[in-house]
This record gives sequence, C-alpha cells and structure tokens, in this order.
Amino acid sequence: MLEVVLYFSFLLLELLFAFGIFIYILSLLFSSFMGAPYVPTKKKSVLEILKGAGLRKGSALLELGCGDGRVVRTAVENFQVKGLGLDINPLLIFIARLKALRLKKLIVFKTQNLYNADFSNFDFIYVFLMPEMLAKLKKKFSKECKKSATIISHGFKIAGWDNKIKKVLQREPFPTYYYKV
Ligand SMILES: C[S@@+](CC[C@H](N)C(=O)[O-])C[C@H]1O[C@@H](n2cnc3c(N)ncnc32)[C@H](O)[C@@H]1O
Repeated sequence: MLEVVLYFSFLLLELLFAFGIFIYILSLLFSSFMGAPYVPTKKKSVLEILKGAGLRKGSALLELGCGDGRVVRTAVENFQVKGLGLDINPLLIFIARLKALRLKKLIVFKTQNLYNADFSNFDFIYVFLMPEMLAKLKKKFSKECKKSATIISHGFKIAGWDNKIKKVLQREPFPTYYYKV
C-alpha cells in the first residue's frame, strides 16, 4: 500500500514539475513573440551599469521589459530610488514581485505592454530590448521624457541617436549606452 501511495505521489510531483516547465517555456515564447526574448542582464554587471547612470536618492527609475526585476530591484536597494518595472510576461512579473517582497514600499511591478506606458514621471529609464523596439520607442522617448531624463540602453544602440550619447560602458558581451533625451 505504501509503495502505491509513494508511486502516485512521485508521479504527481513529476507531472507538476513538467507542467511548470511547460508554462515557463510557453511564457518565454510569448515574450519573444511580443518583441524581445527574455535574456536577463548579467547579475554581476547590474550594479556597475547603475553606478554609471548617477542615480540619486529619491529619483524615479522605470524599467521597460523588466524580466525578473533584477535591475530595478538593485537600483532601489542600492540607491534608494523609486522603481517601476513593466513586463508583458505575467510569469516574470510574478517572479519579480516575489523577489522584491521586502522592498514593497519603493517598488512596483506591472504586467503591461511597454508601448502603453507613460514615461513622463521618470528620471531614468532602463531598457535591454531589441533594436527594432528601440527604434519604435524613440519618438515616445522624445515626446514624453523629461528633458533631464537619462535613458540607459543595455546591449543595443538607439539608431540615429549617436549625438545624444553621453557615455558608453564597454563590457562583454554587451555594452551600455547612456543617453540624454
Ligand atoms: C532582454 S529581456 C530584458 C530583461 C530585463 N530588463 C533585464 O535586463 O534583466 C526583455 C524583456 O522584455 C519583455 N518584453 C518583450 N516585449 C515586451 C512588450 N511589448 N512590453 C513589455 N515587455 C516586453 C520580455 O518579456 C523580457 O522580459
């Protein structure tokens, strides 16, 4: 009898595990389909990238396509900024919220298409997105961002904005570009 109970318990666990993996893979395909695959910024680079932006206590940082929220979370933890992270993928937003439970008052995560976000209240905007997405966002950045805002683009340049680059952090495999709108 005990063997039967154990057998079915393990079977159930295996099925749950396989289902979890299936949902995760499905959610990653969804992210790619919506514009950018989920490729997180390397953990060991995050702090250096944020230091390069000159974050100030009390300023506001928006991360477009925040994945598991590591960038906005690191910013809130180390520079006492207010953070908002948006991602189209609800599973990643769920993970981001779990990882930031202790920072509840300073950080908000929302499942949202980044093209529908309002950029006007932010001092810093962090993106790690495909060049085609950056090209689409350019107009919105110019129209909505504060004149003093810094756009931090990890991985890819914003085409046609070379004259707005204030600084480049050259790192492998991805550089980071800092823009003033
Ligand atoms: C390259 S990952 C970067 C993740 C995170 N910013 C980081 O650096 O660790 C791109 C993220 O953008 C999200 N994404 C793709 N299309 C999106 C859209 N239209 N609106 C919001 N998020 C989107 C994906 O789900 C994915 O998490």
